[in-house]
Amino acid sequence: MSEVAVVRDAAEVAQAAGELCLEACAGAVAARGKALIALTGGSTAKPLFNDLVRRPLPWARLQIFFTDERAVSVADPLSNFGLAQRELFSRVQLAPAQIHALRGDAADLDAEAARAAAELRTVAGQKGGPPRLDLVLLGLGPDGHILSLFAGVASSADRGDAELVRRVAAPLSVEPHLERLTLTPFLVVTARTVVLQVTGEKKADVLSRAMRGAEDLQGCPAQWLRHAAGRVVVVADEAAASRL
Ligand code: 6PG
Repeated sequence: MSEVAVVRDAAEVAQAAGELCLEACAGAVAARGKALIALTGGSTAKPLFNDLVRRPLPWARLQIFFTDERAVSVADPLSNFGLAQRELFSRVQLAPAQIHALRGDAADLDAEAARAAAELRTVAGQKGGPPRLDLVLLGLGPDGHILSLFAGVASSADRGDAELVRRVAAPLSVEPHLERLTLTPFLVVTARTVVLQVTGEKKADVLSRAMRGAEDLQGCPAQWLRHAAGRVVVVADEAAASRL
């Protein structure tokens, strides 16, 4: 992993991630006229969205994807899209065509994964090549997951180059116990910038395992960040970084 920024608390983690987001989006727009980003769900998303709405992001130039989604409807409080809609999309200027949901309430999640992968290729593909995102925003799960690549699941160790989006069975050890759709590790290892937000003492051990533990991509899928070709910034508060 390339950089670790240790800040005081959760509020400063969101602020630092917001600054990195602005920098990555501005750079992408300057270079290529648009910024392709993937938003996370989980507890770090809300403070980040609250930070982002105050920043001069190039909103009209963003194409927004999701890192993962739970198998629920948008109206469900557990929907990552629903959270983004309430805390971010409703407060900034974005056209519907700029937002690319993973439809958690699709009747056939495998078909939805294939549809979302095709959409990624169309919107983010580069001259016939595979898609490359400018920015992937991530949280770290208690079992060492990023995206919905859970620990102990064989497919978590599969880069999924051709797949891009996959359905994942409901995790037993991580809440909520719901089926998911997730981007594959390919989109993390090829992204230009990846920002991992980590807060709280409870994440200290797993962050240390992700960064310094013996490599085991199935046991600790966050270790995919070690394989990233782009810039990786881990933004952690003092409690989460206490065992690094
Ligand atoms: C999700 C997320 C997931 C999240 C981690 C960390 O839908 O659950 O996208 O990957 O980032 O589980 O979640 P917390 O920040 O809530 O611990």
